Amino acid sequence: MSQIWFALAASLTVFMTSFNGVHAQSITDVERLFSNLMVGYSKMFRPVLNQSKQVIVVPGLDIVSIQDFNEVEEKISFTALLYLAWNDERLVWDPKDYGGIDNLYIDVSKIWAPQLMLTNVVNKNERLSEDWHTVRVNASGWCLYVIANVFTSSCDVDVTFYPWDTQTCSLDFMPANYGVDKMILYPIYHKVQLTYYSPNGAWDLMDTSVTSELYSFMVRFNVVLERKPRFAIVNVILPLIIMSALNILVFLIPTECGERISFCLTVLLSIAVFLTLVGDNLPKNSNPMSLFSYYLVSVLAISAAITLSVICSLHVYHRSEKQQPGGAWRAIAMCLECYYVRRTGSESADRTNRSDKIKFARPENASHRSSHGMHSIPYSSHTNRGVILYRPTHSYGTLPSDRPEDKPLQKKETDDSDSSVLEITWAEVSIALDKVFFLFFILLLITDTLCFLIIIYHNVSL
Ligand SMILES: *[C@@H]1O[C@H](CO)[C@@H](O)[C@H](O)[C@H]1NC(C)=O
Ligand SMILES: *[C@@H]1O[C@H](CO)[C@@H](O)[C@H](O)[C@H]1NC(C)=O
Repeated sequence: MSQIWFALAASLTVFMTSFNGVHAQSITDVERLFSNLMVGYSKMFRPVLNQSKQVIVVPGLDIVSIQDFNEVEEKISFTALLYLAWNDERLVWDPKDYGGIDNLYIDVSKIWAPQLMLTNVVNKNERLSEDWHTVRVNASGWCLYVIANVFTSSCDVDVTFYPWDTQTCSLDFMPANYGVDKMILYPIYHKVQLTYYSPNGAWDLMDTSVTSELYSFMVRFNVVLERKPRFAIVNVILPLIIMSALNILVFLIPTECGERISFCLTVLLSIAVFLTLVGDNLPKNSNPMSLFSYYLVSVLAISAAITLSVICSLHVYHRSEKQQPGGAWRAIAMCLECYYVRRTGSESADRTNRSDKIKFARPENASHRSSHGMHSIPYSSHTNRGVILYRPTHSYGTLPSDRPEDKPLQKKETDDSDSSVLEITWAEVSIALDKVFFLFFILLLITDTLCFLIIIYHNVSL
């Protein structure tokens, strides 16, 4: 409470002293000063007594906020205060002659004021100064003109490292109606002022600089902005990774289920739709392309490859049993499932026993389709053999007439008699393929995502 009273008292004191300072100044003094200054004043001509000299205007910028940054249209709007200071050699007076008046506010329409234009403007070039603006003039002729406005400039957006990108945008000002021999812009501050700056939600203002270009004819206020990546990570990258991971799970769906292709295509479609949504938020130029776009395409390609692999696996699964897996397939399946093949090789004695059990499982299956979980119980000790058990279930479920159950069994028996050839069915090959595809695509997705992140981090940290 006491602090507030103190502040109040302090501000009152300041007010009283300033009032005391003004005390000697009367309205007639101000009017007399103004009319004396305006005698013979022509605002058409530059405020230098020797007209062969250049007018030096000191520009400064104070950014209040970043209103809008549209990366797609490559334009940025700043709410900012543009300060212009120059010396008008005609507006000089002695404060003692005018009751101590040491500064005066004059309408910009009454005196000479520099006309600047924003050179990297997006829309039609508009006049920066308005007639109702005022200029503060002090007794030695120094004029200070503050233009508060929303400045919209074009900005070359480089989204190579989206969403960890850094953009450099600038506001370029140039005299609108004089050549470099008549007027120059001479910035004295090397940074953009941020006195009233309020932070932006999507972009961090990292750095600023002020440069003088074209032999002091143009001043460029540069602003370095860094994207806050959390939005893109949460809304774009994570959902994409989740969807791709979901797509890989297709290899865990049993083939008998018949939903594999539709699942695959649904996820593929949602990734494609997602891709167009994300694409809308990136600038539509390919120079330079965003690495993220390549990542999106790679994710789409992986999804397409998953769909192809599922089709391939289904094709293998549904191959006719009459045609036994050839040497190549056998080799593939053996390589993929070495451990399994080794076991079947060593336990070939069990085989007749197993085919008996399949025969035994058949009636139970035919009556009750979902019972294959039950009949797999006797084989729970050999988990790898589950694949054998699923085959009859499948042939009952989807191709009942096409595949008489006795034929493969007979074949197996003949295979058994020929002990040099290992018994592998198409379903086993297909399931082996599924396992391999599952691991392969998981590794591929992880590698792809890691590569993307590492490349971006590597380049951003450079
Ligand atoms: C006006 O300025 C020019 C260039 O600065 C100079 O050469 C010239 O002598 C000046 N004229 C007068 C009258 O001071
Ligand atoms: C007028 O302003 C300029 C620039 O701020 C300063 O250097 C100068 O001393 C001021 N003159 C008076 C009389 O206050």
